[in-house]
Amino acid sequence: MATVSADRTVRRIRVWDLPLRLFHWLLVLAIAVAILSSEEDSALNQWHVMAGWVAAILVLFRIVWGFVGGEHSRFVDFVKPRALAHHVGGLLRGQPEATVGHNALGALSVLLLLAFVAATVGTGILLAGELHEVIAWAMVALVGVHVAAVVVMSLMTRESLVGAMVTGSKIAARHPEARDARPPSVLGLILAVLVVLGGIYAVLAYDPLAFTPRSAESYEHRASPGHQTVPAGQDEQGERD
Ligand code: HEM
Ligand code: HEM
Repeated sequence: MATVSADRTVRRIRVWDLPLRLFHWLLVLAIAVAILSSEEDSALNQWHVMAGWVAAILVLFRIVWGFVGGEHSRFVDFVKPRALAHHVGGLLRGQPEATVGHNALGALSVLLLLAFVAATVGTGILLAGELHEVIAWAMVALVGVHVAAVVVMSLMTRESLVGAMVTGSKIAARHPEARDARPPSVLGLILAVLVVLGGIYAVLAYDPLAFTPRSAESYEHRASPGHQTVPAGQDEQGERD
């Protein structure tokens, strides 16, 4: 059919840069592992702290990327509180705007999600016990709202937002006045890599076994003398004093 063949050659515009997409799906993976491994009797228990540290590094990356990333990854591109009322008004009238980057409400959820992931990770690192658990589940609830919002917006604007987060592009015809997003600069990329490496270095200085599988309990007791903090079969090298 003509429409099908026309669809195949449809012009697309670049929206999300590759590092941003990698960040998103790695964060989903890290959080899924952190949740599935959170119960003490989980078979994945020894992956909990490691998944949490990975999420911490990813959030660090995202903050830097918000300043030096590609066009729609930058905070200045989507943090526009004054556009919120206009956007919500359109939604309520059943006339949602198909934004190229994040829409005004989406921007709010980006910041909230990042803040809740950071708070979950922070309370985990500081062993805040109950608070860590409560914030973690609040974050999961927020993720539920996030996924529901993505589905609803995709249906309302007839645009696959998940597809865009996978391929990085959207169909140009839906955004007539839009052009390809400005890609990240090489300098920005180098800066982000350096900050991530610095972050990994700082994490390892704080917890030398951060990226080694071991139980959450072992992380809790890592400072107590005589506690087995290293995985079986390894020596004490790299252990904190
Ligand atoms: C996205 C990241 C994370 C999520 C979603 C998460 C989630 C959770 C949840 C739901 C529990 C409660 C388990 C139970 O039912 O007893 C828990 C416990 C725990 N988490 Fe995390 N966590 C994350 C990151 C971290 C990090 C980064 C650390 C440490 C570096 C950590 C250390 C612990 C420890 C030691 C416990 C058991 C003791 C306690 O409740 O404090 N978590 N986590
Ligand atoms: C642990 C779970 C998740 C977390 C923490 C999370 C977090 C985020 C964050 C922070 C963003 C903003 C991207 C940016 O940094 O600019 C985002 C965007 C997005 N996420 Fe998720 N996400 C999760 C799960 C999912 C899932 C399961 C899906 C698929 C159904 C999904 C689909 C999307 C889409 C399509 C966008 C782009 C939204 C837009 O077009 O404005 N996310 N997510």
